[in-house]
Amino acid sequence: MSEVDGRHGDTDGEGVSIMAGEHGVAALTDGRPDDGERDRPYVVVSVTTSVDGRVTFAPDRLLMLEPHSSAWRALGGESADRVQAARAADLEREHPHQATLEGSGSLVPPDAGPVGGLDPVPPEERDALYADHLPEAVVARPGRTKWFTVVDGRGRVRWTMKSVGEFDVLVLASRATPIEYLGYLRREGICYLVAGEERVDLAAALRRMRERLGVTTLVSTAGGGLNGALLRAGLVDELDLVVLPTAIGGAGTPTVFDGPVLPEGATPAALRLRSVRVEDDGVLRLRYLVERADAGR
Ligand SMILES: NC(=O)c1ccc[n+]([C@@H]2O[C@H](COP(=O)([O-])OP(=O)(O)OC[C@H]3O[C@@H](n4cnc5c(N)ncnc54)[C@H](OP(=O)(O)O)[C@@H]3O)[C@@H](O)[C@H]2O)c1
Repeated sequence: MSEVDGRHGDTDGEGVSIMAGEHGVAALTDGRPDDGERDRPYVVVSVTTSVDGRVTFAPDRLLMLEPHSSAWRALGGESADRVQAARAADLEREHPHQATLEGSGSLVPPDAGPVGGLDPVPPEERDALYADHLPEAVVARPGRTKWFTVVDGRGRVRWTMKSVGEFDVLVLASRATPIEYLGYLRREGICYLVAGEERVDLAAALRRMRERLGVTTLVSTAGGGLNGALLRAGLVDELDLVVLPTAIGGAGTPTVFDGPVLPEGATPAALRLRSVRVEDDGVLRLRYLVERADAGR
């Protein structure tokens, strides 16, 4: 059913796909602009949203936890499962990526503070902890094909697993991250990069991922806080949305892009439609290229 398998603009008994170049959808010569000048990974934002843009039910309902994950899945039913599986396969094929990205907000509730009860760090060891921690044993681990990257500038996530299947955890921290937390990550053998003073400098962190770890493509499956910050920093190249036929509402409920409001005089990011997939039950897949990644700042 995927729109990249050659059946463009057709009905296949389960839905309709319209590709770039058809039915008023802008023609593209290539889905992915040239990588040439980019000093950071190409960034695809890949999330599932209600028609009104919400990516969860309410600010404190993490979709990684039950009963919320099942309730969210029920909104889309079988066709959403199918479309999301096709999206994952397309991302692997079209954008082979070496990292995914989440924010701490996907893993801990909004009111969670820094991890407590950690060992103190002697003053003479503090400076060394602000250096990136990329132990060779992890970086060169056979079998890993992706980094499970998490922005956690406040040190809020206590890890129960640091490696799952093809994924190793990579934490993005800043110089404001509690030093005890960086010590904890080191003791646990968890990789981290330190970028930024007050909070994680996303542009610098992404550049470092490319330079130090060879990450040329990254798929952000984050919530609105992190994706909004990426958008404002001009770091989003492509958007791959699955839209569920539901409206959730609720001011403050995370959306596809949150973060600071658009500054006076700034232009919103311009998007160019790549393709549309319409399922019979109203589930959509919408793919856009960001035409001006620096817009909206
Ligand atoms: N439907 C979906 O596809 C989907 C996908 C993902 C998540 N979700 C849901 O969305 C909710 C979480 O969304 P959320 O918006 O609360 O959390 P979020 O997207 O994780 O946003 C918070 C994260 O963004 C970082 N951040 C925010 N602004 C930043 C900036 N200017 N510079 C650097 N970093 C910045 C924060 O850093 P610090 O850690 O340093 O504070 C934090 O890590 C959860 O309910 C989750 O289940 C849904």
